[in-house]
Amino acid sequence: MKVYTKEEMSINELSLTYDDISLIPTEVSRIRSRMEPSTETKFLGNKLKVPVVSSPMDTVTGLAMAKELNRLGCMGVLNRFDSSLKELLETDGKLDGITAVSISLHSDEELIERLAAKNLVLCIDTANANNEAVLDKCEEIKKNYDVKVMIGNIAHGSTLKQLVDAGADAVRIGIGGGSVCTTSVQTGIGIGQVSSLLNVYYAREKDNLKIELIADGGIKSPGDVAKAIAVGADIVMLGRMLAGTKETPGEVIKYNDQLWKKYRGSASFGVKMKNEFIEGEETMIPYKGNVANVINAISDGLRSAMSYMNCFTLEELRTKDAFAILSNSSYLERLPKK
Ligand code: IMP
Repeated sequence: MKVYTKEEMSINELSLTYDDISLIPTEVSRIRSRMEPSTETKFLGNKLKVPVVSSPMDTVTGLAMAKELNRLGCMGVLNRFDSSLKELLETDGKLDGITAVSISLHSDEELIERLAAKNLVLCIDTANANNEAVLDKCEEIKKNYDVKVMIGNIAHGSTLKQLVDAGADAVRIGIGGGSVCTTSVQTGIGIGQVSSLLNVYYAREKDNLKIELIADGGIKSPGDVAKAIAVGADIVMLGRMLAGTKETPGEVIKYNDQLWKKYRGSASFGVKMKNEFIEGEETMIPYKGNVANVINAISDGLRSAMSYMNCFTLEELRTKDAFAILSNSSYLERLPKK
């Protein structure tokens, strides 16, 4: 079997995603306990304990989620669909623990000015960052305010320099990989998440660009978080893994003797509520309790992966060059059996 470097995986013939690859422990580890490695990272000037940022979806990030993630050493990006943003602006006290908010392409100047004055990271929340209107908006914000801006999404690094030239500080990588995303089905657009990440990572390397990379969509487990960081992501953005927790907006529903919460795509009918082009689904997620449990599981899994891979820091994990590309049967062998 070939032990692949990141660079070799980046030019693999077929597009790859998390289930197609695995990390290979090829060294005797210096790490004696899972508690030794540090999952700390810096993202857009903020020190984080775990490299997790929440997706700005209306069933994922409201004020409660943003604040709890902040308390846990992660970052929440407030959604732009429900009343969270309005509530945030009405009461200044509510700003404690809010680090990032999403805006739309059509958000007005006054709103942006108010958010920038509070020094919040801004996320221009669109489906496709490769669009002149998105780049113009980014450029305009960066010209007028001293604020960090994340934009998205892209699936390939071919336009990365244009994004950086427009002033983007971070980019969401992934088109078609989200768990409630129907973009690829509806349009035929998008490639596997690992290939997307690697392509953008090497585009950044090649031109020595300064932009932070967010692995967005398709992350199902702590192991996928470890893989995303190992292939070069600075941070992961989670929708489904955080959905269904107590801190998400929305009611807990009892159905068939089980508790559930709603999870839906930002381009789903439930969000748009009109007969537009729909690129997202709506589903129910078993109720998971506190989001702290999810974050702790990610932190534990990541630290264990780092221990196998002989890494004290995430920076070391990002430079590891020992990957397998899995056959379908070896992928299935990796899964626990009933
Ligand atoms: P998940 O963690 O796999 O559930 O993916 C979450 C990501 O899916 C988000 O951060 C968005 O990038 C993407 N996404 C959210 N809503 C939609 C949608 O309606 N259509 C397509 N992609 C979406």
